[in-house]
Amino acid sequence: MASLTRPISISISILLLFFFSPLIKSSREGDPTPAPWPHQFHAILFMNYSGTLQKIDLWYDWTNGRNFNIIQHQLGKLMYDLEWNNGTSFFYTLDSNKECSTAHLEVGILRPNWLDGANYLGQRHVDGFLCNVWEKVDFIWYYEDVITKRPVYWVFYTGREAHVMTFEVGAALEDAKWQAPVYCFGNIPEAGYPISATSRENLLGGVLRGSLAL
Ligand SMILES: *[C@@H]1O[C@H](CO)[C@@H](O)[C@H](O)[C@H]1NC(C)=O
Ligand SMILES: *[C@@H]1O[C@H](CO)[C@@H](O)[C@H](O)[C@H]1NC(C)=O
Repeated sequence: MASLTRPISISISILLLFFFSPLIKSSREGDPTPAPWPHQFHAILFMNYSGTLQKIDLWYDWTNGRNFNIIQHQLGKLMYDLEWNNGTSFFYTLDSNKECSTAHLEVGILRPNWLDGANYLGQRHVDGFLCNVWEKVDFIWYYEDVITKRPVYWVFYTGREAHVMTFEVGAALEDAKWQAPVYCFGNIPEAGYPISATSRENLLGGVLRGSLAL
C-alpha cells in the first residue's frame, strides 16, 4: 500500500486564512456578482500548470454534501479525490497499486456561494468568450460568461489554470461511484494526519483543492 502526497500545502492554508476575511474590500454597488454554483453539477475541466496538463471530471454535489474530482494526468495516473462535507476526504487510485490517503478537515466542501464578496474587475475575453471577471483575495481570478453566466475559466495565483469544457447543471453521479475503496479504511494515518485545519483551510475543499494540486 503506497502512500500519496496530498495536494495540500501549508503556505496555502496561511494564505487562505484571509480568503473569507470580512476585511476584503467589497465591489462597488451595481457591479455584477458571480452566479452561485448550482447545488449539483458536472463539469469537465482542462487544467494547465506550467504546461503540465490534466483533465478533471468535477462532480459537485452540495445537496448530498460531497464533491468529487477525478483527475486524469496526461498519459499518466488517474486519481480520485473524494471529499465529504463532514471534513473527511479520500485521495486514491483504483488500479492494482491500491494507493489511498485520507485526511480530515474541520469543515466541509465549498459552499455554493463561495465567490460572494469577490472583487469585480470588468469584462475580458478568454477562450473566445466574453466574460465578467472577479478576483478573490489575490488567490483566484474567476471568469464567467456574460450571457450564460457559466464559468469559463479560472486561474490561481500560482498560474494554475482551469478551462471549463462542459458544465452540466443538475447532473449527479450515481451513489455507488461515491464509495472509496476498501483499502482507504482501517489504515494507520501517516504522520501529519489526521489534519487539524482551520475553517479557512477548507477553501482547499472542492474544486479548489482538487484542481490546485500545488
Ligand atoms: C499551458 O500553459 C503554458 C504556460 O504556462 C503555455 O505555454 C502552454 O501553451 C499551455 N498549454 C496548453 C495546451 O494550453
Ligand atoms: C464522513 O462521511 C463519510 C461518508 O459517509 C464517511 O466515510 C466518513 O467516515 C465520515 N467521517 C466522519 C469523521 O464521520
